[in-house]
Amino acid sequence: MAYRPDEFVTAGFRDRFVVDLPDRAYLDGNSLGRLPKATADHIQQVVTQQWGNELIGSWNRHWLPLSRRIGDKIGQLIGAGPGQTIVCDSTSLNLYKLGFALLQQRGGRSTILTDSGNFPSDIYILEGLARQISKDLRLQLIDLSVAEHQEVSHRLSQAVNEDTALVCLSHVHFKSGYAFDLPAVSRLVRDRGARMLWDLSHSVGAMPIDMAASGADAAVGCTYKYLNGGPGAPAFLSVRSDLIGKLQNPIQGWFGAERPFDFSKEFTPNSSIDGFAVGTPPILSLSAVEPGVDLVIEAGIDGLRERSMALTEFFLNAFDQRLARLGYTLQTPRNPALRGSHISLGHPKGWQITQDLIHRFSVIPDFREPDTIRFGIAPLYTLASEIDRAVDALESSILNQSYLDFSDSRGGVT
Ligand SMILES: Cc1ncc(COP(=O)(O)O)c(C=O)c1O
Repeated sequence: MAYRPDEFVTAGFRDRFVVDLPDRAYLDGNSLGRLPKATADHIQQVVTQQWGNELIGSWNRHWLPLSRRIGDKIGQLIGAGPGQTIVCDSTSLNLYKLGFALLQQRGGRSTILTDSGNFPSDIYILEGLARQISKDLRLQLIDLSVAEHQEVSHRLSQAVNEDTALVCLSHVHFKSGYAFDLPAVSRLVRDRGARMLWDLSHSVGAMPIDMAASGADAAVGCTYKYLNGGPGAPAFLSVRSDLIGKLQNPIQGWFGAERPFDFSKEFTPNSSIDGFAVGTPPILSLSAVEPGVDLVIEAGIDGLRERSMALTEFFLNAFDQRLARLGYTLQTPRNPALRGSHISLGHPKGWQITQDLIHRFSVIPDFREPDTIRFGIAPLYTLASEIDRAVDALESSILNQSYLDFSDSRGGVT
């Protein structure tokens, strides 16, 4: 094909990441983003200078403002103003805290609604909330996975009603890559008097998000995918400005208190977004988040989205020309407006093919049960040539039946 997405944007951004094995096609930046070179330098400095040298003095000098400062930067990427976002805890824990807080405002409503194909941890958290908060609350799972856009809208419109207290969805579906129409869904939920909580894990850093314009109540998301914050990096949470101070964190820890260092016996909640913190932040992991977020801001989210769409389109063309006839199915929407930044292919031998790709061809996708081979396109650093390599490997694995060299038994992280 004539158009090569690498001809535009990259502009040196890939060179700002550690790429030790140039022959490896890394298409898993939607699970664990690459290491920015600036992060390695920064962490070295945090360890040796801030911890090693400045010791306890670093809390006031460097560390206490971090959760908010990085939160505000992430806020720029999701359309939240300063003071609405903090980085703390895991995505799951943040979902629990915000879900609990929003459900305190449910009035007489008794249903929590989510997609039956949502990320399992989100479903577990919501189910736990329903059980723990009140016997009148129940979790309703509706199947929104891989349905056509019109059908998704129809099913949502049917399901959200005067009994719906909270709707919680992942903006981009972790398997199919389907991107919900965040403004339209938020509007629908709001118009029906329910609360809207988004999980932005698979969209933040890869596509523009405007939480303020959408009117959604709150959002959570992780920082280790397209934000390149590193393994186990703390997540973020964000709350609509007029709800800050009205929503209350169910976990009363000292970092969520008004004046933690008064060591008061009485808990007075912090009425700013800091009220959603709980305990001491993991400073090394937290520090590692900032350079990755800075890179995304510097590159510009609109340009990144453009590049992401060009690269996913490039993959789809190759799928049509070379893979569809080999038994692969496309699980990701063709309409670029309806997809995030990964491409998912189905194949009954998906697990074995994934192992073949990794161990024979040095192409790194991941696998999601039962049959999904998932390719993350990280627009800051993924090259079209890496996609070419993946397509070559997918083709060869079937044509030469080389996937048969790998066992069908599952195990470990993929
Ligand atoms: C959409 C989504 N939500 C939640 C999580 C869980 O995040 P955490 O482990 O930070 O709780 C993930 C993890 O990959 C995810 O993809």
